Amino acid sequence: MPPTPARGRSAPPVPKELARALGDQGVDPSAVLDLSDESEASAARLCTITPGELPTEERLTTLRQLAGDHVSTDGHLFIHLAGRRPDTELARWRNGLWPNFHVGTRYIFEPTGDITKTLLHGPARLEGPPAKPGSIRVGELLCARTCDHVRSPELTALKFDTNAAAWNGNPSKADYLHHRWMRKFVARFTPKRGHKRVLDFGCGAGWVGIEASLHQGAEQLRFFDPSPEMVRISTENAKAAGVLDAAGATGFGEEPPYPNAEDEAFDLVLSSGVLSFARDREAWYDGLARTVRPGGTLVFGDLNPSSIGMRKRRHKKPMLPIRELAAVPRDEARAAMEARGFRCEESCGYQLTDPVPQLLHLDATRLNGALAHPLSWCNRLASGIDRAAGGPLKPLFDSWVMRFVRES
Ligand SMILES: C[S@@+](CC[C@H](N)C(=O)[O-])C[C@H]1O[C@@H](n2cnc3c(N)ncnc32)[C@H](O)[C@@H]1O
Repeated sequence: MPPTPARGRSAPPVPKELARALGDQGVDPSAVLDLSDESEASAARLCTITPGELPTEERLTTLRQLAGDHVSTDGHLFIHLAGRRPDTELARWRNGLWPNFHVGTRYIFEPTGDITKTLLHGPARLEGPPAKPGSIRVGELLCARTCDHVRSPELTALKFDTNAAAWNGNPSKADYLHHRWMRKFVARFTPKRGHKRVLDFGCGAGWVGIEASLHQGAEQLRFFDPSPEMVRISTENAKAAGVLDAAGATGFGEEPPYPNAEDEAFDLVLSSGVLSFARDREAWYDGLARTVRPGGTLVFGDLNPSSIGMRKRRHKKPMLPIRELAAVPRDEARAAMEARGFRCEESCGYQLTDPVPQLLHLDATRLNGALAHPLSWCNRLASGIDRAAGGPLKPLFDSWVMRFVRES
């Protein structure tokens, strides 16, 4: 049964009042049930947060439990918050839904009658018939999906297919210097050991594997990614970079398509920025481990959830990419690989945290690259110092990288 209609403007909204936003999510308002409705898990549920109600630990725990019980795996969870709320409060509601649900869209119901739709890349007015000022209730609608759904194989491949060109980087843009430096830093995190066979595990546009192959003078480069478009771009990039024996496949780290049945595991495996997208982390670590031959080298990097900047963003921003919320601390990733027979040789942070990412953005969008080289020097110097000191400056870096040897 849909929730009963609202009787006054202070009562919670009924789905019909939210129809434009629900329709934008592809949901029929008449199919939306109240979150506490005691029926089987269903495809769309609405929870209403009344004015003044705060995201206390107790409230968030109940909300998460109810949502876990009542929203189907591919279903929608809508949280309506009456009135205007500070971003820090919205971030607390969002954090409270984690790790079961991820908020991907936010709608703001304005006093003017407009609805603003906010996605990660920013706000835009929701198209639709104009409403009269004061005709809609001021409030927010947070739209969440289960994390399993957001990280499903189909959506992952689609997401990266759609954004593949951006991940490749654009040499005419001011941030290209930083884009390529990050990849080179990870690719060269292993000294030259004459590794012959290299695998890029979750290759994106392929730059980490390509740089590593060139550095090692490798004979063979293999790479894989869930996104066919990423594999196509990597193949083109490897060819243009002069890597002769380069080939790729589509696949996921949880069941890597390499090594082939007739091949041995690889001398050098690199995985950069991939772990935080894994739906099944333990299976992903297992998949990573079996691609490295005994005695082989693994270079493994990802986001640092405990950097100053990442912590601030989780506290302040209502919308964040799922990978930031799912980011794994360096020590946890290290323990996972050690439990699989790997010995850590070296680790450090890279990519300076606040305010350097903001300055890079400002430089790329307003300053036409005037700060690109000074910011790059800061990054190089800081990660060089951290590396030389054995990686103690964890909070200062948004990413970490580690190098392992497979012992057993
Ligand atoms: C942030 S990009 C990093 C790409 C590349 N490694 C780099 O450093 O430029 C993350 C990549 O991981 C891929 N990916 C997402 N989930 C994955 C999974 N479960 N296994 C392997 N790759 C995955 C995505 O398709 C995407 O290309």
